[in-house]
Amino acid sequence: MSSDPKKLFIKTYGCQMNVYDTERMVDVMAHEGYAVTEKPEDADLVVLNTCHIREKAAEKVYSDIGRLRVMKEKQTKAGSKETILAVGGCVAQAEGAEILRRMPIVDMVFGPQTYHRLPEMTREADKAKLLGQRPRIVDTDLSVSEKFDALSKKTVSSKKTAFLTIQEGCDKFCTYCVVPYTRGGEFSRSFEDVMNDAGKLHDAGVLEVTLLGQNVNAYHGKSATGEEWSLARLIRHLAENTDFKRIRYTTSHPGDMTDDLIAVHGDVEQCMPYLHLPVQSGSDRIVKAMNRHHTIATYLKTIEDIRAVSPDIALSGDFIVGFPGESDADFQKTMKLVREVDYAQAYSFMYSERPGTPAAGWESQVENHVKSERLAELQEELLRQQRAFNDASVGKVMSVLLERTGKHAGQLVGRSPYMQAVHVDVDNEETAEQNFGKLVDMKIISAGPRSLKGEFKT
Ligand code: 5AD
Ligand code: SF4
Repeated sequence: MSSDPKKLFIKTYGCQMNVYDTERMVDVMAHEGYAVTEKPEDADLVVLNTCHIREKAAEKVYSDIGRLRVMKEKQTKAGSKETILAVGGCVAQAEGAEILRRMPIVDMVFGPQTYHRLPEMTREADKAKLLGQRPRIVDTDLSVSEKFDALSKKTVSSKKTAFLTIQEGCDKFCTYCVVPYTRGGEFSRSFEDVMNDAGKLHDAGVLEVTLLGQNVNAYHGKSATGEEWSLARLIRHLAENTDFKRIRYTTSHPGDMTDDLIAVHGDVEQCMPYLHLPVQSGSDRIVKAMNRHHTIATYLKTIEDIRAVSPDIALSGDFIVGFPGESDADFQKTMKLVREVDYAQAYSFMYSERPGTPAAGWESQVENHVKSERLAELQEELLRQQRAFNDASVGKVMSVLLERTGKHAGQLVGRSPYMQAVHVDVDNEETAEQNFGKLVDMKIISAGPRSLKGEFKT
């Protein structure tokens, strides 16, 4: 019998929350003796960590399953090892056992709140295969706290940047969004649990931590003494009690941007000058129909307050065009808002009808060609702003956390405080070794639309 470690291939779709979940799956499976492989055909276990946010994301999963079916059929024909195929994440949560019915090639389906049980599920699947049966495992329970308890014991990190989930789920019920259904209700981890994980990351040498949550600024974790911790208080505590050099958080809801949290941007040095604050639309009528719980005026006031304490802050946002009932005039209000705010970068999407969400059933759906025209107009402006923001960086000196090697040989890549990717050419191994994994002051020498080029300051 071969003593090679078993191999795990995971493909991640969607948001940073899923990236975090994938890292945790790698951790729990490492305890089971699984090593990560980049090739699905070498894997004993293939996990698709899926996203259900828009139709396109969900469709991608089904076409990937189609490709994996071909791979598995070849394995069966050749009589070689048969890979276990697992569908995890938000599509799994939304569609559950239906996936097994439609795609018999899938062995396991588990939601975003049950992946800590992946080792047990995998063992069960292995057992079924040995008995010549098809494993048909479904675990889409939505209770979150047990997951974090189980995962906390297994967190490992060897990188200089790390995600730390402090909050999950959402109670806001925006009328377009599947998250309250796929991730469940809002849940804040306790202060002690968060600090325990933060301590491990800190001990592992992590320099930059990104606090994650679907509604991260609604964080309200309790401590053992029953005290409530807001995100603002948590960031202050982390800044004072750890050596993290950089603290970020995402994703925030404009309605939960408290004065307290805004103040943190002014006086906590480690809190990076970058804020992702989705507004979705610039029209009050549409924002109301989206059930966003804020107005455009309150959003702009929040931006004004943040800029007052952190004038150089890089703002990012999310936009949806073609929400049901969106008129040309509504869309032009979005364009006006975008011009007024001036974003450093942003994400924009065509509205996608998601099954089970209120807006999906509305009659006032916008035609596809109108959606794509609006998206093109919006993206042109957003890209122009992003370019201008990057161009304005040229000549400045910024601290860059050089965390990975680039596509080209001799290149290191990191992030500026404003989340811009910064590339630097390194001509010898010694310089590369000296600077890799460090925060380095770099002079920005040129800018492209999506990244900057820097050189070491001499
Ligand atoms: N259609 C299009 N975009 C959506 N988003 C969420 N739901 C939908 C949908 N049904 C976008 C929002 C959100 C981001 C994560 O995805 O802009 O902020
Ligand atoms: Fe996609 Fe939302 Fe799930 Fe993230 S939380 S994977 S964006 S559906």
